[in-house]
Amino acid sequence: MSAPLAGRRVLVTAGPTYEDLDPVRFLGNRSSGKMGFAVAAAAVAAGADVVLVAGPVHLPTPDGAHRIDVRSAAQMHAAVFSALPADVYVGAAAVADFTPAGVATSKIKKRPGEDGLTLQLVRTRDILADVAAHAARPRVVVGFAAETDDVDANARHKLAAKGVDVIAANRVGIAGSGFEGDDNLLVVHDAARSHRLGPDSKSAVATALVALIAGRLAQEMP
Ligand code: CTP
Repeated sequence: MSAPLAGRRVLVTAGPTYEDLDPVRFLGNRSSGKMGFAVAAAAVAAGADVVLVAGPVHLPTPDGAHRIDVRSAAQMHAAVFSALPADVYVGAAAVADFTPAGVATSKIKKRPGEDGLTLQLVRTRDILADVAAHAARPRVVVGFAAETDDVDANARHKLAAKGVDVIAANRVGIAGSGFEGDDNLLVVHDAARSHRLGPDSKSAVATALVALIAGRLAQEMP
């Protein structure tokens, strides 16, 4: 079997993050982690040394990957930065953009007469943008864009705004693509071009994405 990523270190994030509100509640999202886990497995199959930083998901660890489990966006940020340096970063996790301004130490109770609750949220740090701007920036930085509308335009915007090399975009909310299914269709954008991977199983799409990353890395770090 060919091992185009032999000797390379690949850092992958996967899954959702959970942002705690109180001891029993959190804000989360519908990411299943399947795409990121498939990318980690494909990178192992390509010979890489793989670190997988996983949000709360119930998926088996791909054979040969080193897994670090986290819960919140802040924990994921810390785990990623402690796992750097790497040759490749793939940010497949659906990281919360906002987190509660504070975590209540006791369960938030409803009070008589209260017919609403306002939560104060603050921005999380953007892990992908921070990795791309880091002094020890991985040679290839790949982000994901999960979009419901204007998928390609939003993805191309993210490429520039976050300073990354590749954005893999998928449309969420339609059958056969996105968070929960076993299949996916990605449109992969770099500065020069865009092309489709799939529709196919997440495993096949991940293998194609890893081949593309390996090709890019071989050009930049022969
Ligand atoms: N991401 C990240 N840290 C965050 C938010 C997002 O690393 N705090 C990364 C994700 O892992 C993904 C990419 O950014 O690789 C795109 O995330 P997405 O939520 O689709 O886009 P946003 O940048 O949050 O933009 P918007 O909410 O406007 O779509």
